[in-house]
Amino acid sequence: MKFLRMPIEIEAPEQLGYHKIDCNLTESSYTDFKFKDLGLDLNELLISYVDHRGHPGLRKLLSEETKGIIHPDQVLLTSGAAQALFIISSSLLDRGDELVVVRPNYATNLETPRALDAKLKIVELDFDSGYRTNPEAIKAAITTSTKLVSITVPHNPTGAVMSERDLEAIIDITEKAGCLLLVDETYREMNFDGVMPHAASRAGHVISVASFSKTFGLPGIRVGWLMTRNQKAFETFFAAKEQIQICGSALDEEIAFQFYAKKDHFLPAIQSNLRRKFTILKNWMENQNHLEWVEPRGGCVAFPRFKKPVAERINLDRFYKTLNETFSTYVGPGHWFEQSKTSMRIGYGWPGEEELRRGLDNITKSIEKSQ
Ligand SMILES: Cc1ncc(COP(=O)(O)O)c(C=O)c1O
Repeated sequence: MKFLRMPIEIEAPEQLGYHKIDCNLTESSYTDFKFKDLGLDLNELLISYVDHRGHPGLRKLLSEETKGIIHPDQVLLTSGAAQALFIISSSLLDRGDELVVVRPNYATNLETPRALDAKLKIVELDFDSGYRTNPEAIKAAITTSTKLVSITVPHNPTGAVMSERDLEAIIDITEKAGCLLLVDETYREMNFDGVMPHAASRAGHVISVASFSKTFGLPGIRVGWLMTRNQKAFETFFAAKEQIQICGSALDEEIAFQFYAKKDHFLPAIQSNLRRKFTILKNWMENQNHLEWVEPRGGCVAFPRFKKPVAERINLDRFYKTLNETFSTYVGPGHWFEQSKTSMRIGYGWPGEEELRRGLDNITKSIEKSQ
């Protein structure tokens, strides 16, 4: 394998130092929790090796959410969704194997198959089609050599949400084509129009991936999961996990379990806080003339772009430099997602309301100073 560091990680705010940033609009998660606000009881926890599949109580809770369609033993806890994605790609794809994957995307979904020297058939999502993942485009990209199709719902970086109908169509297409379907549903509980069932519960060839990082604001515990009813694939994923790390962290998994057991307490507050911040973003978008967007239907990020006349006259380098250096404000530039820098990802779910307002205002000021 050939590993290359990705711009989104090289330029990540935690690498720069959070303390150096006034307005952090780069994040793709809800505000990080402080440990003391979780009300957890960890004193009696044994810091031992733990169940290799992951915390049995947590896997049971996840299984119950699928109404038992996914058995707890078909859930594998991983070190974040990132590790689940790595395990899936490296288990299923050898050099030259074909994968159909959408772009823009969370960078790892593209970069790990590349590191494996797999053959990527990229389905481009575009602004004018509302960043829709079109089942017909997926179908057209699949060949008899396709091993895996990889989609993200709700989508990062655009916040687009696939309709139930499109998702069912893609499940049907991939089943008939005889390939596996990876649904990265890390933002599942951030769907504005209601939470969809775990995709893996819909069909045996589907693999769902998610984590505690995004909706639950716990990226630092590095707990995620994959689930699938495909026993053969699951066994390979399980073997990969054991070879990487034997088992997960006893501490991280216990925190995740105790948090998830109280999910009904935390989730409504998270969702209403996100709605308030989305309203701030939407009002700002509606009251400025420089940017246009596909209004998100889920997640906690948006991917606006400069309107054409602005894009033609703006000095992009100056814009990002002014935003970063004069206003100490950061967004996710388009190149993090293999797109033009005329698009930027704005993470509105992570900053506090004041920081968000100030950051958006700084974007306006930086645009005005860069034309
Ligand atoms: C769509 C998507 N999948 C997976 C991840 C990986 O997150 P984590 O490993 O923290 O769960 C991210 C992080 O940004 C993401 O946006």
